[in-house]
Amino acid sequence: MSEPTQKPSDIDTERKRTGEGIETTSGETDERVREEWREFEFDGATKLSVENLNVHYGEDHALKDVSMDIPENSVTALIGPSGCGKSTFLRCLNRMNDRVKSARVDGSVSLDGKEIYQEGVNLVELRKRVGMVFQSPNPFPKSIEENISYGPRKHGDLETGLLARLFGRSDQEERDELVERCLRDAALWDEVNDRLDDNALGLSGGQQQRLCIARCLSVDPEVILMDEPASALDPIATAKIEDLIDDLSEEYTVVIVTHNMQQAARISDQTAVFLTGGELVEYDATDKIFENPESQRVEEYISGKFG
Ligand SMILES: Nc1ncnc2c1ncn2[C@@H]1O[C@H](COP(=O)(O)OP(=O)(O)OP(=O)(O)O)[C@@H](O)[C@H]1O
Ligand SMILES: [Mg+2]
Repeated sequence: MSEPTQKPSDIDTERKRTGEGIETTSGETDERVREEWREFEFDGATKLSVENLNVHYGEDHALKDVSMDIPENSVTALIGPSGCGKSTFLRCLNRMNDRVKSARVDGSVSLDGKEIYQEGVNLVELRKRVGMVFQSPNPFPKSIEENISYGPRKHGDLETGLLARLFGRSDQEERDELVERCLRDAALWDEVNDRLDDNALGLSGGQQQRLCIARCLSVDPEVILMDEPASALDPIATAKIEDLIDDLSEEYTVVIVTHNMQQAARISDQTAVFLTGGELVEYDATDKIFENPESQRVEEYISGKFG
């Protein structure tokens, strides 16, 4: 009689029980990633669908065969140790990696079911629909008002001159209305409404970051990508950004990279965990990831054992 064969799941359970595994240099335990750990099922529409995404920088394989669907009007957190490919992944969602000479992107990303990696996609239009907020606030060295009105003017949404006048509104009225709406939506209006003509660089870091969010909102995006938007801010400014993200998710699809576990747990609906080597290891409802992850490495990462 032959020995009963041990299924991979038994092996992994046994490994988990005994803590057996090879420690890698970064302190991660060796384990086999299961397809089902990354299959997050949700109700509602898919805004972005990523399939078999691979990114190389020269010889360096930074993102390995990542597939995931991102639900509309919700907050998706991307977490994982430094260098695991979170920013690389985020930049693929509006083709910002096109600007990186050494980057090669293979695979598929679709927005509302339409492939963004195909010939003929208008990148200006794409980045208007999928806006981005960076780690360090980067307002233009212009007035607060101009920071907001610049984008719509560039895209031709404000230069309605004749039309606006036909409807009895001046360009100025149109512009004032837009600036106020975006600043209110970014929870900044009350702090700056009496100095809209001042240079944006005179604002505090937290205010500058909210101005960048307001600027992002001014072109009416559908998706907002945020790469550690609060990492340089104090707890009060961070709390403001977190509240803001919560409000934004009613109307926008937010994808946010953060190193702050509590922040991911607080603000996101679902969380994707990337680990060393550019692999998506687990993707699920945020509560599930933080309370009962499938992967031992994810559990170790979340509890601060490495990263
Ligand atoms: N412009 C680039 N040129 C070459 N290699 C790059 C470039 N950008 C990123 N990489 C490499 O790709 C890998 C993933 O980097 P990425 O910036 O996406 O990681 P990350 O998860 O955002 O890290 P962090 O948490 O430190 O921001 C790293 O090995 C990095 O060195
Ligand atoms: Mg990064």
